[in-house]
Amino acid sequence: MTGRIPHHIAIVMDGNGRWATRRLLPRVAGHKKGLDALRQCVRHCGETGVKVLTVFAFSSENWKRPADEVSGLMELLAGALAREVPQLQAEGVRLHFVGERAGLSDKVRAGLVQAEAATAANTRLVFNVCFNYGGRWDIAQAAAKLAQQGETPTEESLGRALALAHVPDPDLLIRTGGEERLSNFVLWQCAYSELYFTDTLWPDFGDAALDEALADYARRERRFGRTSEQLAPVHRKVA
Ligand code: IPE
Ligand code: IPE
Ligand code: MG
Repeated sequence: MTGRIPHHIAIVMDGNGRWATRRLLPRVAGHKKGLDALRQCVRHCGETGVKVLTVFAFSSENWKRPADEVSGLMELLAGALAREVPQLQAEGVRLHFVGERAGLSDKVRAGLVQAEAATAANTRLVFNVCFNYGGRWDIAQAAAKLAQQGETPTEESLGRALALAHVPDPDLLIRTGGEERLSNFVLWQCAYSELYFTDTLWPDFGDAALDEALADYARRERRFGRTSEQLAPVHRKVA
């Protein structure tokens, strides 16, 4: 992989349900396969030099799904927290849970705290798992925090109070599964992210698919409001 590597990639991992349905499997089987894809994606991000990976695993709105799917997703998270820490350790991955913890079971909450603590010293890749997360929830909780502290909301103070304040904004936002929408993900932080949509369903999103997204990103010209001519030659798009 050559060219510019995004420092921070955010991913809406969509398409698990359709992956399963096409195989006449229950939707939860698609989520299980999606966890395999995520494990490999974490590994490949580390290999390619990405420094922060933020994934959307369960949205504030996903509670509206059938009860058996919701409980299947909760079990999958609890199991992953119990089993995946050794790999995260081996690969130097620091896990952060991002989302509203109230509403999650005691078992899941305890697993989150343990996995975060166990990986706290790792520095190769920051891995944010957004679970019971919504971009609007994040902005609202940040505003509430400022109000409680009697602080004036500004772009800087709000930015500091957000649940993702420990990382810079995503450079590249990927959504798999064919839909071209944000579905309440990183609303504040994606103000200047490059957006990349692919029809590939999340369980099929492997190394080659990530490499393709990275190559696409490397061809983009990020102007941040400036003109093309103003950009330093090193940042200019290579035709
Ligand atoms: C994304 O896959 C995973 C979660 C929302 C938890 P979906 O379950 O939304 O898959 P599709 O969109 O139904 O195929
Ligand atoms: C977004 O996917 C949430 C996650 C990937 C966790 P959805 O499948 O829930 O999104 P919508 O509802 O189709 O927009
Ligand atoms: Mg979906």
